[in-house]
Amino acid sequence: METILETIDPVNPEADVIRRAAEFIKNGDLVAFPTETVYGLGADALRPEASQKIYAAKGRPSDNPLIVHIAQIEDLYRIADPVPEEALLLAKRFWPGPLTMILHKKECVPKQTTGGLNTVAIRFPSHPVARELIRQSGCLIAAPSANTSGRPSPTCAEHVHRDLDGRIAMILDGGEVGLGLESTIIDLSVDRPAVLRPGFITAEMLKEVLGDVDGEKPFAETGHEDSHAPKAPGMKYTHYAPKAPMTLVRGEQEAVIRTIRQLAAKHREKGERIGILCSDETAGSYEDGLIKSIGSRAAEAEIAHNLYRVLREFDEQDLDAIYSEMFDTAGVGQAIMNRMLKAAGHRILDAD
Ligand code: TXA
Ligand code: MG
Repeated sequence: METILETIDPVNPEADVIRRAAEFIKNGDLVAFPTETVYGLGADALRPEASQKIYAAKGRPSDNPLIVHIAQIEDLYRIADPVPEEALLLAKRFWPGPLTMILHKKECVPKQTTGGLNTVAIRFPSHPVARELIRQSGCLIAAPSANTSGRPSPTCAEHVHRDLDGRIAMILDGGEVGLGLESTIIDLSVDRPAVLRPGFITAEMLKEVLGDVDGEKPFAETGHEDSHAPKAPGMKYTHYAPKAPMTLVRGEQEAVIRTIRQLAAKHREKGERIGILCSDETAGSYEDGLIKSIGSRAAEAEIAHNLYRVLREFDEQDLDAIYSEMFDTAGVGQAIMNRMLKAAGHRILDAD
């Protein structure tokens, strides 16, 4: 299949480009498009054979459910029953935006879209291209991140192209996304609302609206998530892991720098090449290895924005190992460390 790559204005998307993309969606074909979090791979959410194409293109296990994207709050009633009061409160506060809610699904949502579950994940994105595409197609759009299964989520159209060229009908290139990490997922299908995936809408922000929320486990505990049945099926799959084994180095900044420098020297002696993931504040402290800063520690949004791009850049090099500093876990930091721990397969080394 030839994949059409089309640039689109991310603020005022050209109507004719949206119309062509919407035609593909209406035909049951796949279109990748920008959202405010990461690029999504879209298909008509209510057509089983359209959803199935997503799994085939991504190489995604068929029991890992998709998020259904809507463009108006009332569409909740088309696909979810009941729509609890909490969902409406959260929708009013955070939609359109980077929040996904899990609710009980209606019959019309095919099991192919929900990975066999009786619940459905729903998100109303704020990105103008995503909103216009949903509106113009007249469909609700199922869209996982537009990467090959096992790769970092794409934050620009180039990433999508690398992973999916020839496998999908169209890519809408609206430039780099704003946020760079996937939406927060909250489960409202259970008695006590629970955060299944941390993101820019933090547990604290959700608590302000709902009062009580079961927050994502502190990062130090997430290694134990295998011990109970996964709530978001996606969490049970080996997440993205860089080609070279990645280790997070924990401790005081000075000790972390010293430890990573020692490791770098050891690898160099063996003729090996390593990557070092660090911050603007510390980048000048390293000499050996491929040194990449993901931004200033004072700007967590910048770190979130750069993380997936830098991980992809490491994968383009032939590295024997990657060592990474750790970052604050307050606020959005929880989402950043959640993704970094998964990329590192929960490997943490204490600096000495
Ligand atoms: O920001 C985002 O959410 C992006 C953009 C494209 O909207 N989408 C995204 O989709 O990250 P995906 O498929 O990469 O991640 C969806 C996650 C998976 O971990 C999946 O298991 C979980 O949501 N999920 C989907 N439906 C669910 C359900 N009914 N119950 C529990 N978890 C669900
Ligand atoms: Mg994904």
